[in-house]
Amino acid sequence: MSILDVLKQPAITLPDHYRNMSKEEMERRVIEIKDMLGEELFIPGHHYQKDEVIQFADAVGDSLQLAQVSAQNKKAKHIVFCGVHFMAETADILTSEDQMVILPDMRAGCSMADMANIHQTERAWEELQRLFGDTILPLTYVNSTAAIKAFVGRNGGATVTSSNAHNMVKWSFTQKERILFLPDQHLGRNTAHDLGIPLEDMAVWDPIQHTLEFEGPIDRVKVILWKGHCSVHENFTVKNIEDVRRTYPDMKIIVHPECRREVVALSDDNGSTKYIIDQIEQAAPGSSWAIGTEMNLVNRLIQRHKDKDIISLNPNMCPCLTMNRIDLPHLLWSLENIVDGSKVNQIQVNPDTSQEALLALDRMLMR
Ligand code: 13P
Ligand code: SF4
Repeated sequence: MSILDVLKQPAITLPDHYRNMSKEEMERRVIEIKDMLGEELFIPGHHYQKDEVIQFADAVGDSLQLAQVSAQNKKAKHIVFCGVHFMAETADILTSEDQMVILPDMRAGCSMADMANIHQTERAWEELQRLFGDTILPLTYVNSTAAIKAFVGRNGGATVTSSNAHNMVKWSFTQKERILFLPDQHLGRNTAHDLGIPLEDMAVWDPIQHTLEFEGPIDRVKVILWKGHCSVHENFTVKNIEDVRRTYPDMKIIVHPECRREVVALSDDNGSTKYIIDQIEQAAPGSSWAIGTEMNLVNRLIQRHKDKDIISLNPNMCPCLTMNRIDLPHLLWSLENIVDGSKVNQIQVNPDTSQEALLALDRMLMR
């Protein structure tokens, strides 16, 4: 279900009294409920979540790590997912029927995931099959709806995260001649480029115009990139890189591969959220870094590594607004709903979609 579909449903919103509660009171209640529910409750938290939420997470990780820990957890009856909608859907697909996945705020979507809907994808596939025949393997970034994952699963493809994109793209070329990479053109382009595929061999599928953007003989196309992007990572620009190079010539620049190709090309290093965290952890004291990724994470790295000089690559960067919808009041509300037995904000992927999406996720998790 896309976040637009979610928003069409009757909204159950945070009751007002949570807004008037002090932070200390909310934290005290969260701790009490966590103690009371013990292993029946599991709170995974994505690195881009706010500190007020992440302090209560039982596991903190990137999309791949959170998918893995959710799949491994057999004890929790309630999984309160502190991340965005597609991550909670993935957790629901990977857990058993008697485990309930809850997203503390249903408005926590992902603008990138919403850039590919299943109708556009099926129409695109028909056209691409007409143009290229049965030569394409679909791959989808986990930042996509369960319906897109199911489409990919039933067509022999797999999901991908930014941590394993290189391996997954390599694997897909052992299966078919070409790939269709959904929905993030930048992760697809950056990964394929790193693997030695020339930019001239990459086409872009525009789902709004329903056209393939490509210059040259069509049989050269190796990679078809869906025209989607992350509205957070697109805010890092070549100008930001030039400014940092001019002002801090010794500073290293590291960015997430959801940034545009030209930004990645001019930076010193790039990699997934986990890769960025590892590089900063391993860096020498006194080293200086400009980081191009989500702001909650950059701020946390600044706080954690006071012996290093860390800034955001874009000085005017904001956090991911949809990730930020999950806050302490929503977390507490979700936990109190569990205690009261009310099923609020449960994420339930329908069984048929779930089964096909699992094929795509399993092909990724087994590699
Ligand atoms: P990773 O957690 O895979 O690095 O992805 C970043 C992201 O944008 C999550 O929404
Ligand atoms: Fe989606 Fe970008 Fe936010 Fe990640 S950072 S949840 S890709 S909008």
